[in-house]
Amino acid sequence: MAALMDRAYVEMRPWSAKDIADTLTARHCQALCHAHGFLIVQMVAGEGEILALATDPDAQRQGVASSLVSELIRIATGHNVSRLLLEVASQNQPARAFYASKGFAQVGLRRGYYTLRDGTKDDAVLLSLAIAQGQGGPAPVSQGSDTKSG
Ligand SMILES: CC(C)(COP(=O)(O)OP(=O)(O)OC[C@H]1O[C@@H](n2cnc3c(N)ncnc32)[C@H](O)[C@@H]1OP(=O)(O)O)[C@@H](O)C(=O)NCCC(=O)NCCS
Repeated sequence: MAALMDRAYVEMRPWSAKDIADTLTARHCQALCHAHGFLIVQMVAGEGEILALATDPDAQRQGVASSLVSELIRIATGHNVSRLLLEVASQNQPARAFYASKGFAQVGLRRGYYTLRDGTKDDAVLLSLAIAQGQGGPAPVSQGSDTKSG
């Protein structure tokens, strides 16, 4: 996961393997994994915070992140989560375009929140998506999917 994140996070600082392992042992955190990407989420108190999302550069624009977010919405609905939240660097246009395509809306801004790989600072844009209860619904058992939680 750390190697994939290192390839995908071009401007953002990627997490180390230890960062990922430590996060996944924290309460309420889990990873949704796909052969070419993953998502890490913390679901607590009715909110799901997307802590990381990455698709391998060779597999981008093929719906990998879309399938991960769809799976997250399905799982979140089962946990009575009504809102997804995340922070994204303001200069990260691919990610901002991705989240906009999923209906996420800006709800805040944290100035100078990120230090990028090159040492420069960037603002964090806070995004939110309301989940209608029942939006996800149960996964059809017969429908093949290479997205699974772990
Ligand atoms: C953001 C990211 C996860 C998107 O993953 P992906 O698997 O390529 O996304 P999808 O294929 O599901 O894209 C779905 C839609 O999002 C939008 N989108 C995704 N990448 C985009 C890009 N580079 N430019 C413009 N729109 C984009 C498009 O509307 C796309 O639909 P389309 O391909 O039919 O036009 C991926 O670019 C990535 O890993 N980036 C680096 C890590 C990162 O920034 N993570 C987010 C941190 S908060």
